[in-house]
Amino acid sequence: MLIAPSILSADFTNLGRDIEMINQSEADIFHLDIMDGMFVPNISFGFPVVDAIRKSAKKPLDVHLMILDPDRYIERFRDAGANWISVHYEACPHFHRTVQNIKNLGVKAGVALNPHTPVALLEDILCDLDFVLIMSVNPGFGGQKFIEQTYEKIMKLKAMIRERNIETLIEIDGGVDLINAPKLKAAGADVLVAGNTVFKAQNPLATIKNLKAS
Ligand code: DX5
Ligand code: ZN
Repeated sequence: MLIAPSILSADFTNLGRDIEMINQSEADIFHLDIMDGMFVPNISFGFPVVDAIRKSAKKPLDVHLMILDPDRYIERFRDAGANWISVHYEACPHFHRTVQNIKNLGVKAGVALNPHTPVALLEDILCDLDFVLIMSVNPGFGGQKFIEQTYEKIMKLKAMIRERNIETLIEIDGGVDLINAPKLKAAGADVLVAGNTVFKAQNPLATIKNLKAS
């Protein structure tokens, strides 16, 4: 299981300290949520913050673009240090082209699906994807309640991946905690994003360790 702490829930007045905590932890990647105030009803942070994180982070950056027309910015995020980029299926009219753009830049390409978007829509593109990010809350905010329907989506997607004998990873984002983590693993999740569960914990290092051991 790969663990991806979401920087959205970090303490931005102590960002350097929180990044160093992730560096020292058993976490595998940094999850960065980019929101444009259009695709989602919130604005998070942009290039100066990603650049700053890149300078201190000792693990890959997983950049989750919750923005309309993401093609405009993919290269800039790659230059800012993104190693993984996910774009929302709902935000890309020419999704196949967008995926090729990401891969041609040497970045791992992923699709993010809103809770209402069925995994069956990926049938003809799954083989091209390095990972699928299943939203287990509506995107836009940290600290929301996990949507239970997610388990079924994971199982359906896992079956599609096994059928094709491919290595596409399944990442789960939103409301992940120590209780649902083992169930997500059993359903077929490979990567868990965790914001509040990590950063609001009494002991974030131990929490990451426990998530990883799920
Ligand atoms: C929500 C973001 C998530 C968020 C997760 O739109 O995509 O990555 O930071 O936060 P938690 O784990 O607190 O739900
Ligand atoms: Zn996210």
